[in-house]
Amino acid sequence: MDIRKIFLGYFQKNGHLILPSAGLIPENDPSVLLTTAGMQQFKPFYLGIKKPPKSRIATVQKCFRTSDIDSVGYTERHLTFFEMLGNFSFGDYFKEEAIKYSLDFMVNNLMIPIEKLWVGVFSGEGELFADKESEKYWIENGIDQKKIYWFDKKENFWGPAGDTGPCGPCTEIYYDFGEKFGCGKKDCGPGCDCERFLEIWNLVFTQYDYNGSRYIDLPSKNIDTGMGLERIAAVLEGTPSVFKTSLFKEIVEKIKE
Ligand code: GLY
Repeated sequence: MDIRKIFLGYFQKNGHLILPSAGLIPENDPSVLLTTAGMQQFKPFYLGIKKPPKSRIATVQKCFRTSDIDSVGYTERHLTFFEMLGNFSFGDYFKEEAIKYSLDFMVNNLMIPIEKLWVGVFSGEGELFADKESEKYWIENGIDQKKIYWFDKKENFWGPAGDTGPCGPCTEIYYDFGEKFGCGKKDCGPGCDCERFLEIWNLVFTQYDYNGSRYIDLPSKNIDTGMGLERIAAVLEGTPSVFKTSLFKEIVEKIKE
C-alpha cells in the first residue's frame, strides 16, 4: 500500500493542490537550520506576505527534527528524519472541515476502526482559550467524549518552528494498540510514556504569529496538519514500532548482513 499516494489522492479529490516536498535546507528562512515541518515552506502564505497558488495544498514533506533527540533510540517511535503527510488551508477551511477530513481519511480510506482512535485537545493557558470547538466537532464526527483528553500548551500548542512565526493550538489523533502494549497503570491513556497510544496526526489551527513575546492574530485562520508516515505505516502494519515497518525493513536487513 502506498500511503503517500493514497493521502495525496484523497486531498487532491478534496480540492487541494499537490506540491512536492521542499528541500531539507529551508530557503530564505534563518529561523531554523533544517526543515522541521510541512508548514515550513508555507510560512510566507500564513503570514500574508505571499499569496499561495491555491488556498488548499497537500504535501509529503521530508523533515529533520532534533526537538525529540533525547528520546531517539530509547523509544519505538521517535525519529530525527521522517516524512510528514500534511494538508494545509490558507484562510479556506478551518477546524470543522479539518477534523472531518482527518476522520474521513482514516476511517473510510485507510479503514482504521474509529474505536481505535483517541484525541487530545488544547486545555487553554493564559490568554489562549480552551478549545471547546474542536471537542464539539470530534464528538459530532463520532469520537466518544471519554476518548477526548485535554492537554496544556506544552503538548497541544504547536510552533512556532524556530523562535517566532505562525503557530496555534492543535488537536492530535492517537491510535490505541490495545492493552497488551500498555503499562497497565490506571491512568494510562494518550500521552502516556508506554507503547499503547501512538500519536499519529497533529491538526494545527494556525491563527497566531508569535513575535517572541506576544501572540498576534494572523490575517486569516489557517490549517497545518502533520501525520508521520512512519507512524501511520506502523498502525497499518500492526506494530507499535516504526523500526519494524516496511519503511525500515531493507535498512535493518542490510545492517544485519
Ligand atoms: N506542523 C504540524 C506538526 O509538525 O505537527
